[in-house]
Amino acid sequence: MNLAVNIDHVATLREARGGMEPDPVHAAVLAELAGASGIVCHLREDRRHVNDRDVRVLRDVLTTKLDLEMAATPEIIAIALEIVPDLVTLVPEKREELTTEGGLAVHGNEDYLSEVTKAFHERGILVSLFIEPEPMQIDAAVQCGVDIIELHTGTYANARSRAGVKIQFERIRAAAMYAANAELVVTAGHGLDLRNLEAICRIPEIEEVSIGHALVSRALFVGFEQAVREYVAAVS
Ligand code: PXP
Repeated sequence: MNLAVNIDHVATLREARGGMEPDPVHAAVLAELAGASGIVCHLREDRRHVNDRDVRVLRDVLTTKLDLEMAATPEIIAIALEIVPDLVTLVPEKREELTTEGGLAVHGNEDYLSEVTKAFHERGILVSLFIEPEPMQIDAAVQCGVDIIELHTGTYANARSRAGVKIQFERIRAAAMYAANAELVVTAGHGLDLRNLEAICRIPEIEEVSIGHALVSRALFVGFEQAVREYVAAVS
């Protein structure tokens, strides 16, 4: 399994003082050197962490892949079509949320999301949808013609009882199988850490996990490259 590293929270720390340090681009390069398969950043409407300059510089310097996480709004779509990341991951976005709170409502929005997907494909950009592990959303993703689905693991990560963890894990496993059968590439992310990752790694259909908060937190104590190396070792 591959590891994509989300660097949003390096930028969060920079924004706490409004200067240049720490630079998320620096973190991204270290993550690549330590074995990450790609770099993820979320260009939010309010630019609370990653900004337009970061995405442009990342586009120039990365040697693995740039996954631009984004809401499918006209402003951000226009930026993505100009910068041309390798991949866009479409997520729901609310101004008042601390982090992405759930999967995208693909079912019911197939027409719009098909159009958006077509525009990205015309520029050679792959499209991933961040969704709940539900067959209805997977069927809708297939209808939109996307390449990848990222299964939301947040509910699994937040489950506290043993029974709750098992129920949420089984939802993810079943959804991964369902999506792989539909010939979608399957990835997963949100709330994953060194404790809850192991079970997810045992789902063979999941090709990559996207991890940010726990990895950046770990990096404060052991350094960024070492934290990435630990997560690369955990997923492989
Ligand atoms: N995948 C998506 C779509 C996300 O929105 C996030 C959070 O930015 C992540 C993965 C990574 O989640 P975490 O920061 O909890 O590891």
